[in-house]
Amino acid sequence: MKVLLVGGGGREHALAWKLHSDDPAIELIAAPGNPGIAEHARCAPVAATDIPAVLALAERERPDLTVVGPEAPLAAGIVDSFRERGLPIFGPTAAAARIESSKSFAKQMMREAGVPTAGAVVTSDVEQARSAVRKHGAPVVIKATGLAAGKGVVVARSIEEADAAIDRILGDRSLGEAGSEILVEEFMAGEELSLFVLTDGTTAIPMMPAQDHKRLLEGDAGPNTGGMGAYAPVSLGTPALVAEVMEKIIHPSLLWMRENGAAFNGLLYAGLMITADGPKVVEFNCRFGDPETQALLPLLASPLLPLLQGAADRPDESELRWQTGASVTTVVAAAGYPDSPRTGDELTIPRVADNVHVFHAGTARDAVGRLVSAGGRVLSITALGADVGAAAASSREVAQQVSLEGKQLRRDIGWRALWK
Ligand SMILES: Nc1ncnc2c1ncn2[C@@H]1O[C@H](COP(=O)(O)OP(=O)(O)O)[C@@H](O)[C@H]1O
Ligand SMILES: [Mg+2]
Repeated sequence: MKVLLVGGGGREHALAWKLHSDDPAIELIAAPGNPGIAEHARCAPVAATDIPAVLALAERERPDLTVVGPEAPLAAGIVDSFRERGLPIFGPTAAAARIESSKSFAKQMMREAGVPTAGAVVTSDVEQARSAVRKHGAPVVIKATGLAAGKGVVVARSIEEADAAIDRILGDRSLGEAGSEILVEEFMAGEELSLFVLTDGTTAIPMMPAQDHKRLLEGDAGPNTGGMGAYAPVSLGTPALVAEVMEKIIHPSLLWMRENGAAFNGLLYAGLMITADGPKVVEFNCRFGDPETQALLPLLASPLLPLLQGAADRPDESELRWQTGASVTTVVAAAGYPDSPRTGDELTIPRVADNVHVFHAGTARDAVGRLVSAGGRVLSITALGADVGAAAASSREVAQQVSLEGKQLRRDIGWRALWK
């Protein structure tokens, strides 16, 4: 069995680790991978977004399955290219990936499918956006429609802050074409929850809900990031809530996608706000979430590969089993993250116990083979424990022992589970 893994972040390290620990005989190839992934896989110096090069690699290696981690190659049509050549691949086509790559497309889908989400005005006109903000009042959310690596959303507490975001994204095109259109969106109050669903486009099986921590600083303060930590299980994510999300959100969305020539195959990630009126969609992603994947995969008792292969044809819920206990992931980020992360700093990882996993995200080897930081989020430290408190303590302890100048981490991952 040969698997090609596209990507080189913490999510892909967790995928590589899980595939390897399920079956050490699996031959893993990563494009491009990272120093952590290199412990389980052969890393090819091919960028995840260089689709012709990934395709050439796959035609040489003939993997039994290719698994795509990041959204950019999916949005660019890597799945379409692979399928045209008869190469098995896990993930949605470019048309289906629009559920993530175009927030205006996703909003239209949800509106037409009757899926609960925040009301929004979609526009590419600065004046129209400003007047929508005034009509709505603060707080209000300004979102770039396109892929913006976590930098496309401003939750504005005032009209002035909303205007500034409109000017920056739409006026100055600070995010390029990703900001050629924006959503002026109703602010939803509540607790956020991430739900991963494996689907062949019709049959869908939910994984265990997880909770991300988007803000940089403890107490959910500071700027939005790609995610500073995650944990599972989440007390809010009851079986009844998951059933409600499947019925009101996932199935109507999948049906609309099928009926509109964009059947969604792979992993559908619903970013939810659990409001006083029930669950509503914040956004969809078309792939595994980062860092929720790093928290969930160590808790997954069943092997991953059959689940990924099942997404091609009738995923089977009986193949999904979870360990008891809890999992907490703490992200160790570089100095300057998220605005201007510093790279090239020497990195030392402590020895860890069996219940702790250190997943590499932004790491590299320098010219003399030393491990150095190479991105904003450097490591994800996942610990398992009897409950969220025990897992959080181990995860935090190891994250604090990592030596990296100016490192940033949150010591309160899982706080909602602990402070209640
Ligand atoms: N309508 C909304 N109401 C309240 N908070 C929101 C809303 N939309 C987004 N957010 C906050 O902003 C974060 C990022 O928004 P999201 O739509 O997930 O964009 P992306 O992940 O592409 O940056 C969310 O996780 C949530 O914390
Ligand atoms: Mg998001």
